[in-house]
Amino acid sequence: MKILVTGGLGFIGSNFIRYMLAKYSAYQIVNLDKVTYAGNFENLAGIDKDPRYQFFKGDIADSKLVNSLISVQKPDAIINFAAETHVDRSIMNPGDFINTDVFGTHILLNAVKDHNVKRYIQISTDEVYGDFDNGGFAKETSPLRPSSPYAASKAGGDLQVLAFRRTYNLPVLITRCTNNYGPYQYPEKIIPLFITNLLESKTIPVYGDGQQIRDWLHVDDHCSAIDLVLHKGVDGEIYNIGANQNPEITNLELTKRIITACGKDERSIEYVKDRAGHDRRYAVDVAKIKTELGWEPKYNFDSGIAQTISWYKNNLEWWKKIKTGEYLNYYKQQYVQR
Ligand code: NAD
Ligand code: DAU
Repeated sequence: MKILVTGGLGFIGSNFIRYMLAKYSAYQIVNLDKVTYAGNFENLAGIDKDPRYQFFKGDIADSKLVNSLISVQKPDAIINFAAETHVDRSIMNPGDFINTDVFGTHILLNAVKDHNVKRYIQISTDEVYGDFDNGGFAKETSPLRPSSPYAASKAGGDLQVLAFRRTYNLPVLITRCTNNYGPYQYPEKIIPLFITNLLESKTIPVYGDGQQIRDWLHVDDHCSAIDLVLHKGVDGEIYNIGANQNPEITNLELTKRIITACGKDERSIEYVKDRAGHDRRYAVDVAKIKTELGWEPKYNFDSGIAQTISWYKNNLEWWKKIKTGEYLNYYKQQYVQR
């Protein structure tokens, strides 16, 4: 099988490419990535020389490039990871999110239609369902109630996928996963940000009261779920993916666990102004992917977070290079001037 992965230099896309090439010796991967601040060639160090892997630099919103790539490569499937992904950046600057997450998705869907691609998976997010702060779990049929510009841009992408399914009967599917963590995550997201700040003996900025709840899934478990959806998913269907931690973990509990694992104490915490429009709780019902496709996550949170913290401790070079230049400007704008 030949798979066109978009956004494969990012956190989840690069983990997915590693996962698929390790599991399927005869598969080929074509990676189309714009190489934004979040795209990092070092995420695929070692893979870049693999004859089963090809890289193309480009924007999914560039119709000419996307169409010529697909007509030459003729992929059996497209998996769209490419997106602007950070909620805080979407609050500062929503425009890029509309361009990639909405318009870019539209360009890919048009190409699926015009080139008769047999399978398209849209990697979406639980954030499209919005806040579930009164308990309960979002089902695939729950209404879309996005809160942030990021979540709204992802919901816009999802709605186009569903419209292209209904109108043109395209072989498209959507996955909606909860928060991922693991190796190669850009240190703007809470887990790598807090681990690396603590390793640098810096403070860690907890938004508001820290009582927000997220459902943390190891990135390898997300990859195994996408693998199943690719091979066994039913066209037109949506699949929620998540760990369903029980008991649920607040940001403050998560923070304290990271502090302990990094050998620090709670004086490292700095409570800062809350994120605008901050959702209190995300929670998805994952019965469908478990019962219909037989998916089960392998990591529990204790083993996953321990492995992740070790990875950042053992890969100082990887994240220290990122925490320079543009990153420092972003950090100042986001945390010092807020
Ligand atoms: P990331 O920010 O680490 O990487 C995004 C990648 O997309 C980068 O390599 C970037 O260069 C590329 N990209 C951005 N705009 C592009 C464009 N216009 N054309 C081509 N490439 C472009 O993101 P991530 O955390 O790996 O997320 C991947 C996908 O998974 C996203 O669609 C995101 O919405 C979704 N998702 C993420 C999480 C999470 O916790 N990180 C959870 C659920 C769903
Ligand atoms: O739920 C899936 C989503 O998870 C993905 O769709 C997004 O792409 C991904 O970025 C992530 O979104 P979140 O906003 O949940 O992730 P983030 O790591 O930015 O924040 C997690 C929680 O931690 C959230 O409640 C805000 C809080 N937080 C975050 C940062 C960066 C802090 O308290 N301090 C911080 O400095």
